[in-house]
Amino acid sequence: MTKINSIYEPVIALAKEAGALQKARYRKTGLMVETKSTAVDLVTEVDLACDALIVQRLKQLFPDDRILSEEQGIQPHDTDNHSEFQWIIDPLDGTTNFSVGHPIFAVSIARWKNDLPEFGVVYVPMLDELYVAERGRGAYWNEQPLKCSTESLLNRSVLATGFPYDRATAENNNAENARVMIPLVKGIRRLGAAAYDLCLVAAGVYDAYWELRLAKWDLAAGRLMIEEAGGTFWCSEEEGKYNVITGSKAICDQLHLLVDMRNSKGK
Ligand code: IPD
Ligand code: CA
Ligand code: CA
Repeated sequence: MTKINSIYEPVIALAKEAGALQKARYRKTGLMVETKSTAVDLVTEVDLACDALIVQRLKQLFPDDRILSEEQGIQPHDTDNHSEFQWIIDPLDGTTNFSVGHPIFAVSIARWKNDLPEFGVVYVPMLDELYVAERGRGAYWNEQPLKCSTESLLNRSVLATGFPYDRATAENNNAENARVMIPLVKGIRRLGAAAYDLCLVAAGVYDAYWELRLAKWDLAAGRLMIEEAGGTFWCSEEEGKYNVITGSKAICDQLHLLVDMRNSKGK
């Protein structure tokens, strides 16, 4: 049993419904794939269908709240809406994985109250893993409470990271950070789904995680999982993109000294 408020049950069901849609199209032929900000930033018809489903349903469930989704942006009717609640949606996190038939991808839905996440759900359809968190009420993996790592030694740590979509042109594409880290740690992972990476930090699977230039929808739910699981979450925002260092406090303190966060944008 979780302590999550029952008003969020339909949203948890919605995350699973979108996940089922993704599972039904997994490794099927004829998938429509297009590019967005760069040649490696992809969107598929399944991203669009899941985004449309989630936005439409949230409008019905929480008509007074604002909505920001990756594929639709801010809803037009929200320009005059000053509600303190906003839903932040990544309908399919890990589109590259999904498009090539790699099983790590997820649905991420979060409700923020002003500048803080209030509720989050991340569902990983191919693993049937469900992560939920609510501020003050804990974070759960398939109903079991989550607890972040308290590891303090880098050489006993497994870390995760990722590489931004402007990596072909940006001066700082995180490759040098990974090169510096590899000899210092027990292991380093790059799964390709930031929302799920953050859940694995909350679960204590990864001792820490860093990434440059994430979007708000990548971290909107995962941040709360980590905070409710007792971990440290740090991020800096620049032009709507977020550099993140999160996990065990002792390891994060060391990452702050090692990770070059210079935010050089692609040309
Ligand atoms: C991406 C994934 C990836 C991360 C990128 C994200 P998308 O999200 O989370 O792991 O490295 O920065 O944009 O585009 O698959 O939803
Ligand atoms: Ca994403
Ligand atoms: Ca996405």
